[in-house]
Amino acid sequence: MDLSGTIISKNIVNDVQNAIAGYSGTDIFILTDENSLKYCFPVIKDIPSLENAHIITIPAGDDNKNIESSVKIWQYLSENNATRKSLMINLGGGMITDIGGFVASTFKRGIKYINISTTLLGAVDAATGGKTGINFLGLKNEIGAFNPAASVLIYVDFFKTLDIENIRSGYAEMVKHALIDTQEEWESVLKFNLEDIDFEALTPLVERSIRIKEKVVEQDPKEEHLRKALNLGHTFAHAFETFSYRVKRPALHGYAVMWGLLCELYLSHLKLGFPKDELLRLKYMTKEYYGMFSFDCDGYEALYELMTHDKKNESKDINFTLLSDVGKININQTASKEEIFEVFDFYLMG
Ligand code: GLY
Repeated sequence: MDLSGTIISKNIVNDVQNAIAGYSGTDIFILTDENSLKYCFPVIKDIPSLENAHIITIPAGDDNKNIESSVKIWQYLSENNATRKSLMINLGGGMITDIGGFVASTFKRGIKYINISTTLLGAVDAATGGKTGINFLGLKNEIGAFNPAASVLIYVDFFKTLDIENIRSGYAEMVKHALIDTQEEWESVLKFNLEDIDFEALTPLVERSIRIKEKVVEQDPKEEHLRKALNLGHTFAHAFETFSYRVKRPALHGYAVMWGLLCELYLSHLKLGFPKDELLRLKYMTKEYYGMFSFDCDGYEALYELMTHDKKNESKDINFTLLSDVGKININQTASKEEIFEVFDFYLMG
Protein backbone atom coordinates (compact mmCIF):
# COMPACT_ATOMS: atom_id res chain seq x y z
CA MET A 1 0.00 0.00 0.00
CA ASP A 2 1.44 3.35 -1.02
CA LEU A 3 1.23 5.64 1.99
CA SER A 4 2.79 8.95 1.09
CA GLY A 5 3.72 10.68 4.34
CA THR A 6 1.19 12.99 5.94
CA ILE A 7 2.17 16.65 5.59
CA ILE A 8 1.93 18.81 8.70
CA SER A 9 1.39 22.09 6.95
CA LYS A 10 2.68 25.50 8.01
CA ASN A 11 1.25 27.08 4.86
CA ILE A 12 -1.91 25.26 3.84
CA VAL A 13 -2.45 27.35 0.69
CA ASN A 14 0.99 26.37 -0.70
CA ASP A 15 0.65 22.77 0.37
CA VAL A 16 -2.81 22.34 -1.18
CA GLN A 17 -1.49 23.98 -4.34
CA ASN A 18 1.42 21.50 -4.49
CA ALA A 19 -0.81 18.53 -3.73
CA ILE A 20 -3.21 19.33 -6.58
CA ALA A 21 -0.60 20.35 -9.14
CA GLY A 22 -1.42 18.42 -12.29
CA TYR A 23 -5.19 18.32 -11.80
CA SER A 24 -7.34 20.77 -13.74
CA GLY A 25 -9.76 22.95 -11.80
CA THR A 26 -13.00 21.74 -13.39
CA ASP A 27 -12.20 18.19 -12.39
CA ILE A 28 -11.82 18.85 -8.69
CA PHE A 29 -14.63 17.99 -6.28
CA ILE A 30 -14.35 19.27 -2.71
CA LEU A 31 -16.40 17.40 -0.10
CA THR A 32 -17.24 19.34 3.07
CA ASP A 33 -19.78 19.34 5.87
CA GLU A 34 -21.47 22.54 7.07
CA ASN A 35 -18.74 23.19 9.64
CA SER A 36 -15.72 22.72 7.40
CA LEU A 37 -17.50 24.73 4.68
CA LYS A 38 -17.99 27.62 7.08
CA TYR A 39 -14.73 27.59 9.05
CA CYS A 40 -12.10 25.96 6.83
CA PHE A 41 -13.04 26.27 3.16
CA PRO A 42 -12.59 30.10 3.20
CA VAL A 43 -8.88 29.55 3.97
CA ILE A 44 -8.27 27.67 0.70
CA LYS A 45 -11.01 29.00 -1.57
CA ASP A 46 -8.85 31.56 -3.37
CA ILE A 47 -6.28 29.03 -4.57
CA PRO A 48 -6.31 29.65 -8.36
CA SER A 49 -6.52 25.97 -9.32
CA LEU A 50 -9.62 25.61 -7.15
CA GLU A 51 -11.40 28.41 -8.95
CA ASN A 52 -13.73 26.07 -10.87
CA ALA A 53 -13.82 23.29 -8.30
CA HIS A 54 -17.20 21.82 -7.39
CA ILE A 55 -18.22 21.95 -3.74
CA ILE A 56 -20.33 19.11 -2.34
CA THR A 57 -21.64 19.67 1.18
CA ILE A 58 -23.30 17.02 3.34
CA PRO A 59 -24.70 17.40 6.87
CA ALA A 60 -22.19 17.01 9.72
CA GLY A 61 -22.30 14.10 12.17
CA ASP A 62 -21.43 10.40 12.08
CA ASP A 63 -25.13 9.55 11.50
CA ASN A 64 -24.72 10.95 8.01
CA LYS A 65 -21.79 8.69 7.15
CA ASN A 66 -24.18 6.35 5.39
CA ILE A 67 -25.26 4.90 2.06
CA GLU A 68 -27.80 7.71 1.42
CA SER A 69 -25.07 10.37 1.64
CA SER A 70 -22.81 8.20 -0.52
CA VAL A 71 -25.51 7.94 -3.21
CA LYS A 72 -25.91 11.73 -3.18
CA ILE A 73 -22.16 12.21 -3.67
CA TRP A 74 -21.91 9.56 -6.42
CA GLN A 75 -24.90 11.16 -8.14
CA TYR A 76 -23.34 14.62 -7.93
CA LEU A 77 -20.09 13.28 -9.43
CA SER A 78 -21.95 11.54 -12.27
CA GLU A 79 -24.18 14.48 -13.08
CA ASN A 80 -21.20 16.82 -13.12
CA ASN A 81 -19.18 14.64 -15.48
CA ALA A 82 -16.50 13.47 -13.08
CA THR A 83 -14.05 11.15 -14.81
CA ARG A 84 -11.45 8.66 -13.64
CA LYS A 85 -8.97 11.55 -13.74
CA SER A 86 -11.05 13.70 -11.39
CA LEU A 87 -9.78 14.46 -7.91
CA MET A 88 -11.76 14.52 -4.66
CA ILE A 89 -10.60 16.72 -1.81
CA ASN A 90 -12.10 15.65 1.50
CA LEU A 91 -12.09 18.72 3.74
CA GLY A 92 -13.39 17.83 7.20
CA GLY A 93 -13.11 15.54 10.18
CA GLY A 94 -13.10 11.74 10.26
CA MET A 95 -16.66 11.47 9.01
CA ILE A 96 -15.83 13.41 5.82
CA THR A 97 -12.48 11.68 5.16
CA ASP A 98 -14.05 8.22 5.74
CA ILE A 99 -17.06 8.71 3.45
CA GLY A 100 -15.17 10.82 0.91
CA GLY A 101 -12.44 8.18 0.71
CA PHE A 102 -15.07 5.46 0.28
CA VAL A 103 -16.98 7.29 -2.46
CA ALA A 104 -13.75 8.16 -4.29
CA SER A 105 -12.51 4.56 -4.01
CA THR A 106 -15.65 3.18 -5.64
CA PHE A 107 -16.59 5.86 -8.21
CA LYS A 108 -15.62 4.50 -11.66
CA ARG A 109 -13.60 1.87 -9.74
CA GLY A 110 -11.58 4.52 -8.00
CA ILE A 111 -10.51 8.13 -8.42
CA LYS A 112 -7.69 9.79 -6.49
CA TYR A 113 -8.46 11.66 -3.32
CA ILE A 114 -6.72 13.99 -0.87
CA ASN A 115 -7.63 14.28 2.82
CA ILE A 116 -7.38 17.64 4.57
CA SER A 117 -8.29 16.92 8.16
CA THR A 118 -9.92 19.82 9.98
CA THR A 119 -10.28 18.14 13.40
CA LEU A 120 -7.63 16.84 15.78
CA LEU A 121 -9.38 13.47 16.09
CA GLY A 122 -9.54 13.08 12.32
CA ALA A 123 -5.93 14.21 11.90
CA VAL A 124 -4.40 11.69 14.29
CA ASP A 125 -6.69 8.83 13.35
CA ALA A 126 -9.04 8.60 10.34
CA ALA A 127 -7.20 10.76 7.79
CA THR A 128 -4.09 8.58 7.72
CA GLY A 129 -3.82 4.86 7.07
CA GLY A 130 -6.07 4.15 4.11
CA LYS A 131 -9.21 2.97 5.91
CA THR A 132 -12.32 4.31 4.17
CA GLY A 133 -15.91 3.44 4.91
CA ILE A 134 -19.49 4.13 5.91
CA ASN A 135 -21.87 2.85 8.60
CA PHE A 136 -24.50 0.31 7.52
CA LEU A 137 -27.46 -1.34 9.28
CA GLY A 138 -26.46 0.31 12.55
CA LEU A 139 -22.89 -1.03 12.36
CA LYS A 140 -19.97 1.37 12.28
CA ASN A 141 -17.69 1.24 9.24
CA GLU A 142 -19.42 -1.94 8.07
CA ILE A 143 -18.84 -1.18 4.36
CA GLY A 144 -15.55 0.18 3.07
CA ALA A 145 -12.18 -0.46 1.52
CA PHE A 146 -8.52 -0.05 2.29
CA ASN A 147 -7.33 2.59 -0.18
CA PRO A 148 -4.93 5.34 0.91
CA ALA A 149 -5.29 9.01 0.04
CA ALA A 150 -2.93 10.44 -2.60
CA SER A 151 -1.96 13.07 0.04
CA VAL A 152 -2.95 13.84 3.61
CA LEU A 153 -2.61 17.43 4.83
CA ILE A 154 -2.91 18.55 8.44
CA TYR A 155 -3.14 22.22 9.38
CA VAL A 156 -3.19 22.74 13.13
CA ASP A 157 -4.69 26.25 12.78
CA PHE A 158 -7.97 24.60 11.73
CA PHE A 159 -8.18 23.02 15.20
CA LYS A 160 -8.50 26.49 16.76
CA THR A 161 -12.16 26.46 15.69
CA LEU A 162 -12.81 23.38 17.87
CA ASP A 163 -14.11 23.50 21.44
CA ILE A 164 -11.97 22.12 24.29
CA GLU A 165 -14.00 18.88 24.45
CA ASN A 166 -13.23 18.11 20.80
CA ILE A 167 -9.54 18.88 21.35
CA ARG A 168 -9.49 16.50 24.32
CA SER A 169 -11.38 13.91 22.30
CA GLY A 170 -8.70 13.96 19.59
CA TYR A 171 -5.96 13.98 22.21
CA ALA A 172 -7.16 10.60 23.52
CA GLU A 173 -5.99 8.93 20.31
CA MET A 174 -2.60 10.62 20.82
CA VAL A 175 -2.47 9.13 24.32
CA LYS A 176 -3.10 5.71 22.74
CA HIS A 177 -0.32 6.22 20.18
CA ALA A 178 2.13 7.25 22.91
CA LEU A 179 1.28 4.17 25.00
CA ILE A 180 2.01 1.78 22.13
CA ASP A 181 5.23 3.66 21.30
CA THR A 182 7.81 4.59 23.94
CA GLN A 183 8.13 5.77 27.56
CA GLU A 184 9.55 9.06 26.24
CA GLU A 185 6.47 9.72 24.08
CA TRP A 186 4.17 8.74 26.96
CA GLU A 187 5.97 11.27 29.22
CA SER A 188 5.56 14.04 26.61
CA VAL A 189 1.87 13.34 26.19
CA LEU A 190 1.33 13.36 29.97
CA LYS A 191 3.08 16.73 30.31
CA PHE A 192 0.87 18.60 27.80
CA ASN A 193 -1.59 21.04 29.39
CA LEU A 194 -5.14 20.07 28.40
CA GLU A 195 -6.61 22.94 30.42
CA ASP A 196 -5.36 25.72 28.23
CA ILE A 197 -4.35 24.53 24.75
CA ASP A 198 -1.05 25.83 23.38
CA PHE A 199 -1.34 25.06 19.66
CA GLU A 200 2.38 25.74 19.07
CA ALA A 201 3.27 23.06 21.59
CA LEU A 202 0.58 20.73 20.25
CA THR A 203 1.95 20.72 16.67
CA PRO A 204 5.09 18.58 17.19
CA LEU A 205 3.10 16.19 19.39
CA VAL A 206 0.52 15.81 16.61
CA GLU A 207 3.24 15.20 14.06
CA ARG A 208 4.93 12.51 16.19
CA SER A 209 1.57 10.90 16.88
CA ILE A 210 0.81 10.63 13.16
CA ARG A 211 4.28 9.20 12.50
CA ILE A 212 3.62 6.49 15.13
CA LYS A 213 0.44 5.51 13.29
CA GLU A 214 2.16 5.61 9.89
CA LYS A 215 4.98 3.37 11.15
CA VAL A 216 2.44 0.76 12.31
CA VAL A 217 0.29 0.96 9.16
CA GLU A 218 3.32 0.65 6.86
CA GLN A 219 4.14 -2.70 8.47
CA ASP A 220 0.56 -4.03 8.41
CA PRO A 221 -1.73 -1.94 6.17
CA LYS A 222 -4.68 -4.37 6.27
CA GLU A 223 -4.74 -5.01 10.02
CA GLU A 224 -3.65 -8.63 9.93
CA HIS A 225 -1.32 -8.35 12.92
CA LEU A 226 0.57 -5.25 14.17
CA ARG A 227 -2.11 -2.72 13.16
CA LYS A 228 -4.29 -4.28 15.88
CA ALA A 229 -2.07 -2.28 18.26
CA LEU A 230 -4.13 0.74 17.17
CA ASN A 231 -7.16 -0.95 18.73
CA LEU A 232 -5.74 -0.49 22.23
CA GLY A 233 -8.55 0.78 24.46
CA HIS A 234 -11.14 0.42 21.73
CA THR A 235 -12.91 -2.82 22.76
CA PHE A 236 -14.11 -1.16 25.97
CA ALA A 237 -14.34 2.24 24.23
CA HIS A 238 -16.82 1.12 21.56
CA ALA A 239 -19.01 -0.42 24.28
CA PHE A 240 -18.86 2.80 26.35
CA GLU A 241 -19.64 4.93 23.29
CA THR A 242 -22.66 2.85 22.18
CA PHE A 243 -23.92 2.55 25.77
CA SER A 244 -23.57 6.32 26.31
CA TYR A 245 -26.00 6.93 23.42
CA ARG A 246 -28.36 4.24 24.67
CA VAL A 247 -28.64 5.85 28.11
CA LYS A 248 -28.89 9.33 26.56
CA ARG A 249 -25.61 10.60 27.97
CA PRO A 250 -23.76 10.69 24.62
CA ALA A 251 -19.97 10.70 24.87
CA LEU A 252 -17.50 11.98 22.29
CA HIS A 253 -15.44 9.18 20.75
CA GLY A 254 -12.20 10.27 22.41
CA TYR A 255 -13.77 10.37 25.87
CA ALA A 256 -14.88 6.76 25.39
CA VAL A 257 -11.33 5.99 24.20
CA MET A 258 -9.83 7.39 27.43
CA TRP A 259 -12.23 5.31 29.55
CA GLY A 260 -11.44 2.31 27.34
CA LEU A 261 -7.69 2.85 27.67
CA LEU A 262 -8.02 2.99 31.44
CA CYS A 263 -9.99 -0.28 31.49
CA GLU A 264 -7.63 -2.03 29.09
CA LEU A 265 -4.51 -0.91 30.94
CA TYR A 266 -6.03 -2.28 34.15
CA LEU A 267 -6.72 -5.54 32.28
CA SER A 268 -3.10 -5.36 31.05
CA HIS A 269 -1.99 -4.96 34.67
CA LEU A 270 -4.08 -7.98 35.77
CA LYS A 271 -3.04 -10.28 32.97
CA LEU A 272 0.38 -9.09 31.80
CA GLY A 273 1.79 -7.13 34.74
CA PHE A 274 1.50 -3.66 33.13
CA PRO A 275 3.08 -1.29 35.74
CA LYS A 276 0.60 0.00 38.33
CA ASP A 277 2.22 3.47 38.55
CA GLU A 278 1.71 4.11 34.81
CA LEU A 279 -1.89 2.91 35.15
CA LEU A 280 -2.47 5.39 37.97
CA ARG A 281 -0.98 8.24 35.92
CA LEU A 282 -3.52 7.48 33.19
CA LYS A 283 -6.30 7.29 35.77
CA TYR A 284 -5.36 10.71 37.16
CA MET A 285 -5.30 12.25 33.67
CA THR A 286 -8.65 10.68 32.76
CA LYS A 287 -10.39 11.93 35.91
CA GLU A 288 -8.88 15.38 35.58
CA TYR A 289 -9.71 16.07 31.94
CA TYR A 290 -12.36 13.61 30.79
CA GLY A 291 -14.41 12.85 33.92
CA MET A 292 -15.68 9.35 34.57
CA PHE A 293 -18.75 7.72 33.06
CA SER A 294 -20.98 6.23 35.77
CA PHE A 295 -23.05 3.05 35.42
CA ASP A 296 -24.69 0.47 37.70
CA CYS A 297 -25.03 -3.35 37.75
CA ASP A 298 -27.28 -3.32 34.68
CA GLY A 299 -24.56 -1.30 32.99
CA TYR A 300 -22.01 -4.08 33.71
CA GLU A 301 -24.17 -6.58 31.83
CA ALA A 302 -25.03 -4.17 29.00
CA LEU A 303 -21.40 -3.14 28.45
CA TYR A 304 -20.27 -6.78 28.54
CA GLU A 305 -22.97 -7.74 26.02
CA LEU A 306 -21.84 -4.95 23.69
CA MET A 307 -18.23 -6.16 23.95
CA THR A 308 -19.24 -9.69 22.91
CA HIS A 309 -20.54 -8.19 19.65
CA ASP A 310 -17.42 -6.14 18.90
CA LYS A 311 -16.44 -6.64 15.26
CA LYS A 312 -12.78 -7.11 16.25
CA ASN A 313 -13.68 -10.47 17.84
CA GLU A 314 -12.50 -13.34 15.67
CA SER A 315 -14.19 -16.13 17.68
CA LYS A 316 -16.64 -16.21 20.59
CA ASP A 317 -13.91 -14.68 22.78
CA ILE A 318 -13.66 -10.91 23.19
CA ASN A 319 -10.48 -9.68 21.49
CA PHE A 320 -8.18 -7.10 23.09
CA THR A 321 -4.84 -5.51 22.40
CA LEU A 322 -3.03 -5.23 25.75
CA LEU A 323 0.36 -3.96 26.93
CA SER A 324 2.86 -5.67 29.22
CA ASP A 325 4.58 -2.25 29.56
CA VAL A 326 4.55 1.07 27.72
CA GLY A 327 5.44 0.16 24.10
CA LYS A 328 5.17 -3.61 24.67
CA ILE A 329 2.21 -4.68 22.55
CA ASN A 330 0.35 -7.99 22.94
CA ILE A 331 -2.34 -8.49 20.28
CA ASN A 332 -5.14 -11.11 20.26
CA GLN A 333 -5.62 -11.23 24.05
CA THR A 334 -8.88 -12.39 25.63
CA ALA A 335 -10.53 -12.03 29.05
CA SER A 336 -13.28 -13.84 30.95
CA LYS A 337 -16.52 -12.20 32.06
CA GLU A 338 -15.23 -12.25 35.67
CA GLU A 339 -12.05 -10.40 34.64
CA ILE A 340 -14.06 -7.84 32.69
CA PHE A 341 -16.34 -7.24 35.68
CA GLU A 342 -13.23 -6.84 37.87
CA VAL A 343 -12.09 -4.13 35.44
CA PHE A 344 -15.45 -2.34 35.86
CA ASP A 345 -14.98 -2.51 39.66
CA PHE A 346 -11.58 -0.87 39.33
CA TYR A 347 -12.96 1.75 36.91
CA LEU A 348 -15.79 2.76 39.26
CA MET A 349 -13.67 2.66 42.43
CA GLY A 350 -12.99 6.39 42.14
N1 GLY B 1 -8.27 3.63 13.79
C1 GLY B 1 -7.33 2.61 13.85
C2 GLY B 1 -6.74 2.28 12.53
O1 GLY B 1 -6.71 3.09 11.63
O2 GLY B 1 -6.30 1.19 12.36
